[in-house]
Amino acid sequence: MPIPIILDCDPGTDDALAILLALASPELNVLAITVAGGNVGLEITLPNALALVALAGARVPVHGGADNPLLGEFLPAHHIHADNGLGGVILPPGPPPAPGIAADAIRDILRGAPEPVTLVGIGPATNLALALATEPSLAVHVRDIVLMSGGWVRGNITPAAEFNAYSDPEALAILLGTGHRVVFAALDLTDQALATPARLAVWRSLGPGRCLRAACDIQVAVPPSARLGGQGAPLHDPCVIAWLVRPDLFTAFPAHVSVDLAAGPDRGRTRLDRSGRTADNALVLDTLDADRFFALLGDRFASLP
Ligand code: BDR
Ligand code: CA
Repeated sequence: MPIPIILDCDPGTDDALAILLALASPELNVLAITVAGGNVGLEITLPNALALVALAGARVPVHGGADNPLLGEFLPAHHIHADNGLGGVILPPGPPPAPGIAADAIRDILRGAPEPVTLVGIGPATNLALALATEPSLAVHVRDIVLMSGGWVRGNITPAAEFNAYSDPEALAILLGTGHRVVFAALDLTDQALATPARLAVWRSLGPGRCLRAACDIQVAVPPSARLGGQGAPLHDPCVIAWLVRPDLFTAFPAHVSVDLAAGPDRGRTRLDRSGRTADNALVLDTLDADRFFALLGDRFASLP
């Protein structure tokens, strides 16, 4: 049986590839896509999500949500994702969004779900946290919470913090406090998914489909990561979808994760405790078989229109 998921995102170049991967994966049943601001404003991320669903020929409701974190304002990442959030790649517009804001839609789906639903977060955690904080009893309808968030050694938006964790640390803290295991694809894992020119050339050779072409065009536009030696850009967000589809490509360990909320240079830093002195609340994805990961994505993108 496919795993029912709600995919919460802020597309975003790597979000775009994660959305296409999810829609191409028969192992998943995407019940809804919910959208926040983050990489760029909600007025851009929401049309991007709608365009990607239409490009894939999928019929999945897309709901708009938070354009601000629980405190303060989002800090956009135009330097990675370009002004239009998709590396400057222009997609045909999709249909209007589904009625109802993201947090309400998430709660409605959980309330009526015949089986537990996995919440997948690849942007700031605001929508997911709002949904669960306003009706905590719905947590029994959650199967797993799987996030691209955090970094154990260093950050990518500040020296200490990863972008999604930094964008709404209070929301991440709420998810960590639900009593549900949170699965983390943090930077230490997603940096292993390096989209090099050679890997993208292989993808391009796999077929003529519009989704495969869009995935390649979007990823080619992402500046190579100086942090990782300039060899390519990491495909952060597709890692969480790939883990749901092919967990055998990953290794993982249980741990306790917390997030720093105090103002100052450590705000948004995620901390990992493997000592066992604090109860495990997370499963941390550790290693990735990157070659098989890129082969999986290429095959799945090529299977779309
Ligand atoms: C995360 O930040 C965003 O810019 C990406 O879309 C990804 O979700 C990586 O730190
Ligand atoms: Ca994202």
